[in-house]
Amino acid sequence: MDLKIQGKTAFITGSTAGIGYATARALASEGVDVILNGRTETKLQEAVQKLQREFPNNTISGLCIDFSNTKQIEEQLGRLPEIDILVNNVGIYSSVSFFETKDSDWQQQFEVNVMSGVRLSKRILPNMLTNNWGRILFISSECATLVPVDLISYSMTKTAILAVSRGLAQLTKGTGVTVNTIIPGSTLSEGAEQFLENAAQKEGKTKAQIETSFFTEVRSSSLLQRFAKVDEIANTITYMASSLSSATNGSAIKVDGGSMGGIL
Ligand SMILES: NC(=O)c1ccc[n+]([C@@H]2O[C@H](COP(=O)([O-])OP(=O)(O)OC[C@H]3O[C@@H](n4cnc5c(N)ncnc54)[C@H](OP(=O)(O)O)[C@@H]3O)[C@@H](O)[C@H]2O)c1
Repeated sequence: MDLKIQGKTAFITGSTAGIGYATARALASEGVDVILNGRTETKLQEAVQKLQREFPNNTISGLCIDFSNTKQIEEQLGRLPEIDILVNNVGIYSSVSFFETKDSDWQQQFEVNVMSGVRLSKRILPNMLTNNWGRILFISSECATLVPVDLISYSMTKTAILAVSRGLAQLTKGTGVTVNTIIPGSTLSEGAEQFLENAAQKEGKTKAQIETSFFTEVRSSSLLQRFAKVDEIANTITYMASSLSSATNGSAIKVDGGSMGGIL
């Protein structure tokens, strides 16, 4: 299927690994020029070169920004070219008891998970409106409504994203620009693999045991009963970033394997 986005330019935050990198690959395979992002120049250039080798006909580049560093964001954002597709993917979390979560943890997760998308959209949306074409996608999480007790601060950021996304969509009324949110369920990205490894160590179990007990005990509401692959999330993001999704605006699309329940 031709998604009709060949020659567009996409910026994907947090894209040297995980869902972000898988999305970059999927977009590049549709002929999109991709700008990757991560915190360190070394890892970023490795990812840029890897993707460029796979897609020699696309323009693949990188913009190094740590979205917890406000000064760096201000300095670097001016280097972005015109963007047709913005994927606000970067997200951080730490599994901590509510009583041990510091104010600075709340603030840092809000900065990275919410304000990165706010600042980028403020910069990029006006041009999209002028061009009468653009796609902004926010990446939320099933935690937005499941709210695990060890991830309350993270979940707060993922719920906040839904309001930001819906509000921005309202600014696009009557244009060819859309703003939507994708809501992934538990996904086996490098970050999630690390999370599993840490839990295995903490509980003295194997990773496989942690995986099994996660879906029987913790995420029993999942109909999928397994971690999603990063490509399964990236496929939906890529379709929503495409010209073919033009009638969907202001929506939240679940790719949660059914974990959040409900029909809508
Ligand atoms: N995995 C899941 O189970 C799951 C479920 C639901 C929702 N989500 C959401 O999906 C998104 C992607 O998740 P993921 O699991 O793929 O993430 P991940 O594997 O943890 O991705 C890490 C990526 O984020 C970048 N990154 C981390 N902190 C950054 C910062 N401060 N500034 C810029 N880049 C930063 C890393 O770059 P460097 O290391 O190169 O700096 C790397 O490219 C997140 O918003 C997450 O909340 C994930």
